[in-house]
Amino acid sequence: MKQKIKTIVVTGGEGFIGSNLINKLNSKLKNLKIISIDNGLSKQSNRIKANKNNKIIYIKGHTKQIKSLLKKEKSIDTIFHFGEFSRIVKSFEHSEKCFSSNHTGTLEVIKFCSNNKIRIIYSASSSKFGNKGRDENLSPYSWTKSKNIELIKNYAKWFNLDYEIVYFYNVYGPGQIRNGHMAAVIGIFENCYLKGKPLTVIKPGTQKRDFTHVDDIINGVMLAWKKKLNGEFMLGTNKNSSVIDIAKLFNHPIEYIGEKPGERLASTIPDINSQKRLGYKAQIKIEDYIKTFVKQNAKPK
Ligand SMILES: NC(=O)c1ccc[n+]([C@@H]2O[C@H](COP(=O)([O-])OP(=O)(O)OC[C@H]3O[C@@H](n4cnc5c(N)ncnc54)[C@H](O)[C@@H]3O)[C@@H](O)[C@H]2O)c1
Repeated sequence: MKQKIKTIVVTGGEGFIGSNLINKLNSKLKNLKIISIDNGLSKQSNRIKANKNNKIIYIKGHTKQIKSLLKKEKSIDTIFHFGEFSRIVKSFEHSEKCFSSNHTGTLEVIKFCSNNKIRIIYSASSSKFGNKGRDENLSPYSWTKSKNIELIKNYAKWFNLDYEIVYFYNVYGPGQIRNGHMAAVIGIFENCYLKGKPLTVIKPGTQKRDFTHVDDIINGVMLAWKKKLNGEFMLGTNKNSSVIDIAKLFNHPIEYIGEKPGERLASTIPDINSQKRLGYKAQIKIEDYIKTFVKQNAKPK
């Protein structure tokens, strides 16, 4: 008997985390039709080649058009909503783009899911938790990401919405953005290292982050998707490291640069329910990842 094809949509499917998710879905599961919707905002296009049992379709478009972009799709199982403006500091300079994606676009995605009985898996930001919750007001990014969580939960109460909220913590690993305005800290360090330039550390350098490898994040996302608990899951490692300590692991010159707006001093996991409810535990240590990177890329002296 022919197996039914399942349709999955990944918004932001050409971005760092979205492309890693498509890669995992494509390599682990069969009979999938995976549709990526990405408007190219982050200026990096990580596309995956479908294996023979699956189909991957790449649509260039903004989430605010989701209804018309997907009008021919009859039965979508899940939308992994990862297509938003994704960086804190740059959300001041690009606030229009941030509101357009994270506010207007996301509302349309939520409405589309609710109206069509599609489960949404939302890529939430841990920036919401810092400083007893006050950090959600630090930037247009943190604020819009935080309000989307409230919107999803309220939408589920007011109307009808099946959801999982997965919180990500400073994600790094293959496919991350290394150049340009959307690069994040580990990508920036790697780029500086490869170019032989000092690693740029934002002052004071003692700010702490929970650095999580993208393979662990994808593992957590897949668990939340499969278990269908209608919950919120924090997918960090539960270990904080200072940015300066991470920079020192590269064993390379370091240069301090001025403080940036929206910077947080610490990152917090207020609840480790993902371990208890999902059986999730991050496996990869940032120290091991950097050690391997340096070994593979060290220039002969
Ligand atoms: N990387 C992290 O450390 C981290 C931490 C917490 C939360 N997140 C969230 O995870 C998601 C993915 O992050 P990422 O690191 O892969 O970022 P990314 O910038 O690499 O990927 C996001 C992708 O979404 C696309 N996009 C943005 N707005 C869109 C829109 N309106 N319509 C269609 N496509 C759009 C971009 O072009 C990009 O390809 C984001 O929602 C981000 O806020 C990431």
